[in-house]
Amino acid sequence: MSLPKQVKIVEVGPRDGLQNEKENVPAEVKIELVDRLTSAGFANIEAASFVSPKWVPQMATSKEVMTAIARKPGVVYSALTPNMQGFEAALAARADEVVIFGSASEAFSQRNINCSIAESIARFVDVAKAAKDHGLRLRGSISCAFGCPYQGEVPLEAVADVVGRMRDLGCDEIDIADTIGVSTPRKTQAVMAAAAREFRIEGLSGHFHDTYGQALANIYASMEAGIAIFHSSVSGLGGCPYAKGATGNVATEDVLYMMQGLGIETGVDLDIVVDAGQFISQFLGRKGASRAGNAIAAKRAG
Ligand code: HMG
Ligand code: MG
Repeated sequence: MSLPKQVKIVEVGPRDGLQNEKENVPAEVKIELVDRLTSAGFANIEAASFVSPKWVPQMATSKEVMTAIARKPGVVYSALTPNMQGFEAALAARADEVVIFGSASEAFSQRNINCSIAESIARFVDVAKAAKDHGLRLRGSISCAFGCPYQGEVPLEAVADVVGRMRDLGCDEIDIADTIGVSTPRKTQAVMAAAAREFRIEGLSGHFHDTYGQALANIYASMEAGIAIFHSSVSGLGGCPYAKGATGNVATEDVLYMMQGLGIETGVDLDIVVDAGQFISQFLGRKGASRAGNAIAAKRAG
């Protein structure tokens, strides 16, 4: 299949990236990061997560962040909402899109959200209905679609099954996530094909962590399979607190560099993202994980 002419890049650094940082990142820094990303031109930024602060302390400032960011009309600011408590908080904080997050692996579901896959879907029913009642976009995220840190292999049927359940809940978009970054291109295409049997392909997205250095190859393979929405994290921030050893999402700068080279439109200004990556890396006191971001910054410095 030919590659898409344009893709949507969902910037998840402020949520998936920062949720895994041990040191407290103050709300002002998160707000500045989101504002910089807004000015870079993303149509969708995952900015917050209304989960239990005991489970993910770093996201406890989500309300402050959502309230203070400089919103650009038309940009969708998303927030994770595992249950009605999270939904109510996201609604009050004016999230444009709420994200219910389940798993294709039973073992991971228990560790991440403390319930079985079936129980999680039952919990999401009310959230999904409330989202629709309030006219919010609803996204479903499926962890461990390509492999699980606890159970290993995840059958294609398990992915397809959860995609079907998320579809039945009324999701507008469904993320197929490689939580621990283990997939390789052919496997990626097989999983995406299984997901596409249950949901329209234009609404499927690829959420790749780069733990084994395969994320860009998996994105390319996904585009060959017809996927045109991808998640990435500025400066490659991140990991998942419930997937030991998992590293960050694919770096946004690397994805943008590849898309530019392929002539695929993203609507995002790479230079501004590089600046945002330098900003957050400086705050965190370490070199960013984006190869393209670091190369561009080094070239600028001459
Ligand atoms: P639980 O302990 O089973 O729930 O947690 P509970 O209903 O029994 O509540 C226990 C306590 O949590 C209560 O407080 C609740 O008020 C509080 P207490 O009475 O003990 O003081 N609580 C909340 N507080 C704030 N906001 C809420 C909320 N809900 C309950 N929404 C729960 C169940 C799902 C809440 C918990 O397991 C949790 O928060 N897990 C966090 C999971 C998480 O955030 N994981 C990382 C994000 S997912 C991810 O990164 C994967 C993704 O990137 C895709 C990929 O790469 O795979 C999306
Ligand atoms: Mg993730």
